[in-house]
Amino acid sequence: MVQQSATAHEADGAAYTARTAESRALFERASRVLMGGTTRTSVYYPPYPACMVRGEGCRMYDADGNCYVDFLSNYTVLLHGHSFPPIVEALKRQAEQGVCFSAPSEREIELAEILCKRVDSVDKLRFASSGTEAVMYAIRLARAFTGRNMIAKFEGGFHGAYDDCQISHSLSAEQIETSEAPIKTANTEGLPSGVAERVLVLPFNREAEACALIEAHADQLAGVILEPVQGAGGAIPAEQSFLAALRKTTEKAGILLIFDEIMTFRLGYGGAQQVYGVAPDLTTFGKIISGGLPLAAFGGREEVMALLDPRNGPPPIPQSGTFNGSAIAAAAGVACMEHLTHESLAALEAIGLDMKTRLQAVFAKTGTAAQVNGFGSLFNIHFSAEPVVDHRGTVGADREKLARLAMALLLRGYFMAPRGMICLSTALGPAEIEGFASAVEDALESGDV
Ligand SMILES: Cc1ncc(COP(=O)(O)O)c(C=O)c1O
Repeated sequence: MVQQSATAHEADGAAYTARTAESRALFERASRVLMGGTTRTSVYYPPYPACMVRGEGCRMYDADGNCYVDFLSNYTVLLHGHSFPPIVEALKRQAEQGVCFSAPSEREIELAEILCKRVDSVDKLRFASSGTEAVMYAIRLARAFTGRNMIAKFEGGFHGAYDDCQISHSLSAEQIETSEAPIKTANTEGLPSGVAERVLVLPFNREAEACALIEAHADQLAGVILEPVQGAGGAIPAEQSFLAALRKTTEKAGILLIFDEIMTFRLGYGGAQQVYGVAPDLTTFGKIISGGLPLAAFGGREEVMALLDPRNGPPPIPQSGTFNGSAIAAAAGVACMEHLTHESLAALEAIGLDMKTRLQAVFAKTGTAAQVNGFGSLFNIHFSAEPVVDHRGTVGADREKLARLAMALLLRGYFMAPRGMICLSTALGPAEIEGFASAVEDALESGDV
């Protein structure tokens, strides 16, 4: 069976190159000027990624004219699919009125009002240009507010490219075999010395151990950062009691709890924190909040955010960022968020549930040891017979098989992440969900995976 899969996969590779000659040529051209032919590690897959030239609704078209139903939504960005007409209209309007200014604009106020109104724990916020920056400022605020140096994060928690977050967001199979206790490892070269020492790594969904570690480091810890559902880590929901325990423990020790809702904000009208009923001190936002344009935000308790206030002299934390709250990105964000209503969210959840149910039925029918993690519109397939409740579970799963499934789906006109992430948009409907589940079944049955 393994042999058969390998052969079928080679055939898939040949079929892929046969139908993506233009993408290949573009990749060769890109490789002459962009290192490795790309500018974002996660969008590369071998032998070269299909180069997209157009997106409309839930569909994308590559340079060779192949059509894909988009089940990834730019890694959770595109809440309403591609070129959503109200966003396009807002962009056109704002483009005619000026895209950014060396001054505040009304659009950034509108978007901030929408976010503060939706999220009870956010009294005030600030914009940044990327999630990485929003996380960096949230951490800086926690350090400045508490006067402490250390930050705690979880194994498998991905929070962008800021130095302190480049620790233990992914572990290898060899590493997890060495210890049951959380493992501290740098996921990139080039970090200055001392970064790892100021980061405490915690185990996800292991309440007693995580809280004990926080208590043991309480006098050094400025903040604890996590996603209510680990997104890039494999769409792994936190247990409600786990989040509640973290809230209690951090509050008691005067440590700021930071929810990174850059991916999970799409899970509830007021983000995942509303779904879980747990309020953090600070929240970071990104992805959906700007309708596909680059923008992010961080916000929270008034007294913490006050460290950014320039009204009484130079603030303890001066915030810079040329594109912060750019009017055109904020305009797209307002249009996007205005269409994330309770009704559209309920419809999105309904197709999500339908997809999860259908995929589970396909796995049962084909005798595949697999599961679909996540809820709402954020999911990840894991080829594992064991329940996946943390990053360690994803490391133990068959990740090569996931990449083969992604390729087999690409050939069937469906686009999901090679690491198995699936993210739905309101542009998808029951027909696309049914088609996706059938394509997964066909791929599994044909031995391509
Ligand atoms: C949870 C989370 N935090 C932070 C980031 C970093 O955001 P950006 O890529 O905009 O810097 C990401 C990106 O995927 C993310 O998923």
